[in-house]
Amino acid sequence: MSKILVTGGLGYIGSHTVVELVNKGYEVVIVDDLSNSSLCVLDGINKTCNKSVKFEKLDLRNIKFTKDFIENNKDIDGVIHFAASKAVGESIENPLKYYSNNLFSLINLSEALKDLNKPIKFIFSSSATVYGDPEILPITENESIKVAESPYGNTKQIGEEILYDLTQSNSDFKVISLRYFNPIGAHISAEIGELPIGIPQNLVPFITQTAIGKRKELVVFGDDYPTKDGSCIRDFIHVVDLANAHIKSLEYLNKITKPNFYDTFNIGTGHGSSVFDLINSFEIVTNQKLKYKVGKRRKGDVGECYANVNKANKILNWKSKLSIEDSLLSAWNWEKKINNEKL
Ligand code: UD1
Repeated sequence: MSKILVTGGLGYIGSHTVVELVNKGYEVVIVDDLSNSSLCVLDGINKTCNKSVKFEKLDLRNIKFTKDFIENNKDIDGVIHFAASKAVGESIENPLKYYSNNLFSLINLSEALKDLNKPIKFIFSSSATVYGDPEILPITENESIKVAESPYGNTKQIGEEILYDLTQSNSDFKVISLRYFNPIGAHISAEIGELPIGIPQNLVPFITQTAIGKRKELVVFGDDYPTKDGSCIRDFIHVVDLANAHIKSLEYLNKITKPNFYDTFNIGTGHGSSVFDLINSFEIVTNQKLKYKVGKRRKGDVGECYANVNKANKILNWKSKLSIEDSLLSAWNWEKKINNEKL
């Protein structure tokens, strides 16, 4: 079975992807610099898979350490590259951190892989943020790429371009960029989930932290959008479904024989849900009232963003399976678990 390197494998999406890979029989090696994650995630992964997954602490910005690591792991034949900073607001305040971390890491990793002179399957974590405010809904991969709204978004656009150019110049690389919509939820085991540091910026961790009493109330950012109930609409996808899209992508790249291969896929459910829909579903699945109020719009938010996922359905043979209710219940079980354990 092939050996896959997962960078940022102790992060939110990375950890769930590692579990799915191991459960499908892949040999996995994780690297992570622990800048926004913790070693207890490795324990959660190991418990969930009932295996001891290989891990090395590595900062990919260091070219020498990166090259040494790849040289010592010559037998990898696939890479899933999650390692990156992801807070939109922070990227506006500290753009150099984002350009340096997200782009040097990608370049160093690619350089090191290039030195192996062997075929490499490479999956890149991109984001629906590359579409900005979409012209046509649901969003297809043909939607135009807008000027990025943040340095974080720009690093995703530039990352895609770097990898496209690399595939055109080097036939060893076969690359897929996955454009994620809004991942939510946690593994059903409640051994791994989202671990935001400080005040959560994303909706679902804010909801679960409010429900458990860590936050006073949720603020709904605007109810005056031109949507069915005035709140924003997003394509919320269970993180385990999203994780499985990476495996389908690796399987697809296995079948590709033509050189210079690069492609992009939207990974979402294909359905939009509003912020109020999410609040209602959360109240139903957890059987409790959530404290919230309506506030002003958040700068940079678009009214509606949801995916057309026909391309991934057809070409990758991948489809999301889990519901919003599954996602919210798993996120809630995870929140309760980490509060009991005081991680
Ligand atoms: C955000 C990022 C996006 C990133 C994604 C990763 C921004 C502008 N975009 O997407 O680049 O790829 O996270 O997960 O930050 N909301 C509230 N109250 C809250 C939090 C959120 O009403 O306390 C609303 C937001 O206005 C939005 C929706 O919930 O309409 C989802 O927000 P969020 O989870 O932050 O995701 P995005 O903004 O879609």
